[in-house]
Amino acid sequence: MNNLFDIKGKVLVMTGATGVLGTSIVKYFASQGCKVVLLGREKSAGTARALVDEIKSAGGEAMSLVGDVLDKASMEACLDKVLAAYGTVDILFNAAGGNMGPANVQPDQTIEDLDIDAMKKVCELNIFGTVIPTQVFVRPMVQQKKGAIVNFCSMSSFRPLTRVAGYGIAKAGIASWTEWLAAELAIKHGDGIRVNGIAPGFILSNQNRSLLTNPDGSLTDRSHKIIGHTPFGRFLEADELLGALHFLASDASKGVTGTISVVDGGFNSFTI
Ligand SMILES: NC(=O)c1ccc[n+]([C@@H]2O[C@H](COP(=O)([O-])OP(=O)(O)OC[C@H]3O[C@@H](n4cnc5c(N)ncnc54)[C@H](O)[C@@H]3O)[C@@H](O)[C@H]2O)c1
Repeated sequence: MNNLFDIKGKVLVMTGATGVLGTSIVKYFASQGCKVVLLGREKSAGTARALVDEIKSAGGEAMSLVGDVLDKASMEACLDKVLAAYGTVDILFNAAGGNMGPANVQPDQTIEDLDIDAMKKVCELNIFGTVIPTQVFVRPMVQQKKGAIVNFCSMSSFRPLTRVAGYGIAKAGIASWTEWLAAELAIKHGDGIRVNGIAPGFILSNQNRSLLTNPDGSLTDRSHKIIGHTPFGRFLEADELLGALHFLASDASKGVTGTISVVDGGFNSFTI
C-alpha cells in the first residue's frame, strides 16, 4: 500500500508563513519534500527570503511572495507566480491572523472601552484574510479535483476566552467558515477537496506575549490560569502542530473534512 502520508512534490501555499508558527511549519513541510510558497507582507519579505535560503540550503524547494491576504488582486498576482513556478496548488494553510490590544477588554475596562474599529480589523484580518486567499488558491484545486485546505483556528473558536473579545468573534467565525466551506466544496466539486481547521493551544508568540508574560519575562496571572487548566501543565511548542498538519494535508486524512484538530495539551476538553 502507498504511504498515505507521502506529500513529496506537493505544492503548499502558506499565508502568515513568517510568523512564529509558520516558520516551523514551512521548514518541516519542505523537509518532507513539499514545494513551499511562503506568502507574507512586504515588511516580512526579508524574513521570508532568509527562510527560503535556509530551506534551499537544506536541500528543500521554496519560494517567497509578497502579498496582502485582504487584497484579492494581490492574491491573484501571487497565484499567477505560483502557477508559473510550480504549475499548481495542492495544499493551502491559512495562517495569517492575529489580535490587536484595543480589541480586548482589560480587567479595569468595560465593553464601552472596546475599540470597534480595532474589532473590525481583527475580524477582517482573521476571517476575510482566510476567505480571500481561499477564493483564489482553490482554483487549481477545483481544476485538478484535489486539494487540502487548513484554516488556523484557536481555543477561542469553541468557547470565548476572557478579555479577547474581537479575536474570539473572529476565530469562531473561522471555525464556522471551515465547516461551511468543507460542505460547499465537496457538494460542488467532489470528495477530493477537503477543508479542515487546526486549533492550537497556547504557544508563546508575538500576538499573545503581552497577555502571557510580564515585561521581565515572568508569567502573568493569566498564564498561571491557563497552565493550571491544561492537563499537560505547560504551554505548547510550535512543532507540536506538525503531525496534525501533516495528517490533514495528506491522503492519510482522505475521509476527513469539516473538522478542527485540537492540539492543546488537553486545555479544551478539561473541566476539573
Ligand atoms: N501562537 C499561538 O499561540 C496561536 C494559538 C492559536 C491560534 N494561532 C493562530 O495561528 C496563526 C499563526 O499564529 P502566529 O503565532 O504564528 O502569529 P504571528 O503573528 O507570529 O504570524 C502571523 C503572520 O500573519 C501575517 N499577516 C498579518 N496580516 C497580514 C496580511 N494582511 N497579509 C498577509 N499576511 C499578514 C503577519 O505578517 C505574520 O507573519 C494565526 O492565525 C493565529 O491567530 C496562534
